[in-house]
Amino acid sequence: MKEPDAVKIQELRTERLRLRPWREEDREPFARMNADPRVMEHFPALLSREESDASVDRALAHFAQYGFGVWAVELPGEAEFIGYIGLWHPTIETHFTPCVEIGWRLAYEYWGRGYAPEGARASLRFGFEQLGLEEIVSMTAPVNLRSRRVMEKIGMTRNEADDFDHPRVPDGHPLKRHVLYRLKRSDWARIAAQ
Ligand SMILES: CC(C)(COP(=O)(O)OP(=O)(O)OC[C@H]1O[C@@H](n2cnc3c(N)ncnc32)[C@H](O)[C@@H]1OP(=O)(O)O)[C@@H](O)C(=O)NCCC(=O)NCCS
Repeated sequence: MKEPDAVKIQELRTERLRLRPWREEDREPFARMNADPRVMEHFPALLSREESDASVDRALAHFAQYGFGVWAVELPGEAEFIGYIGLWHPTIETHFTPCVEIGWRLAYEYWGRGYAPEGARASLRFGFEQLGLEEIVSMTAPVNLRSRRVMEKIGMTRNEADDFDHPRVPDGHPLKRHVLYRLKRSDWARIAAQ
């Protein structure tokens, strides 16, 4: 594994969370999350240990290339690793790419405490204020109401005209259709000032 310290990764702190570089020890609890049918309910398949590790490798490669990515999330004093929250460039080609997406995946035991929106707001701030992005998007299957709720709580909005078929989901699969939420820098500035 590439040593995270080889790339200068900025940590983000919130009231309750530390968004930090990935560590080797995160791989095991991350693989457990990715094999949990509750966490993966709205994804086409559970991930094997190898597939889970490959997604960590992709996260590290993204940090190495762009200096940001999905951070490992820690609850200081309570849990070393509860999932990820962060920003990345999706590699699919569709009507709104290239773009930067925000996303999250947390272990089931930590749901319902507002951690995803808390970490997401810090990620938005980083994206708009440090990276200088003009817009950040998020996408999910329409049935993923929890994730859509997080998008709404952080101020993102959906336009039905942006709905799209995810190019990596097989035709005819129930998760093929996706909704897109957007947040523009100007709207972020307004929300952040409230
Ligand atoms: C999506 C996820 C990150 C949310 O994290 P979280 O820290 O639990 O988020 P919150 O604490 O804000 O709770 C989610 C919100 O969804 C609401 N919610 C929960 N279940 C819901 C349901 N079945 N229908 C509608 N809303 C629901 C909660 O009430 C809460 O909103 P509220 O604060 O207005 O009451 C977490 O559920 C998760 O990791 N899911 C699996 C991975 C995933 O789907 N990732 C996103 C892929 S796009």
